[in-house]
Amino acid sequence: MKKNVVSIVMGSHSDWPTLEHGSQLLDQLDIPHEVHVLSAHRTPDALSEHIKSAESKGVEIFIAAAGGAAHLAGVVAAQTVLPVIGVPMQTSSLNGMDSLLSMVQMPGGIPVATMAIGKAGAVNAALFAASILAIAFPQYRQAIRDYRMTQEKKILEKSQIK
Ligand code: RP5
Repeated sequence: MKKNVVSIVMGSHSDWPTLEHGSQLLDQLDIPHEVHVLSAHRTPDALSEHIKSAESKGVEIFIAAAGGAAHLAGVVAAQTVLPVIGVPMQTSSLNGMDSLLSMVQMPGGIPVATMAIGKAGAVNAALFAASILAIAFPQYRQAIRDYRMTQEKKILEKSQIK
């Protein structure tokens, strides 16, 4: 079995319907990955354990998604030197601005590559992870090119609205 090179962590099971889009895209790009629900606030010790064990198993990139007081990506970044891609969840109370600002405003010294709020962010997190992996694994360059070609074709096929 191929080792998982990406670890997706999310703060709650309620985040999965959004993150599922990112996981499906990683599957499509043939990037082996694992997915866990772990929270910076609700399960802090298990989160730390997971980060250590993921690194030792060969994970190269973390995707961390959370909503509200979204500290998960920052807390992951504080405990690893691997790249951390953050996905702010859309929320009902503040529409995801709470998640975005909590995630993006990291203090200098501990970076999180923060994506767009919600589904677009989940999809772009997968593509950004692929781009990072493509530095060392050229097969992912072609996978990203193929994805873009398909995307372009789909749009152009239905380009004329009227
Ligand atoms: C965050 O709180 C999670 O990432 C989720 O987006 C949000 C709400 O969680 P639930 O109350 O739905 O479990 O930690």
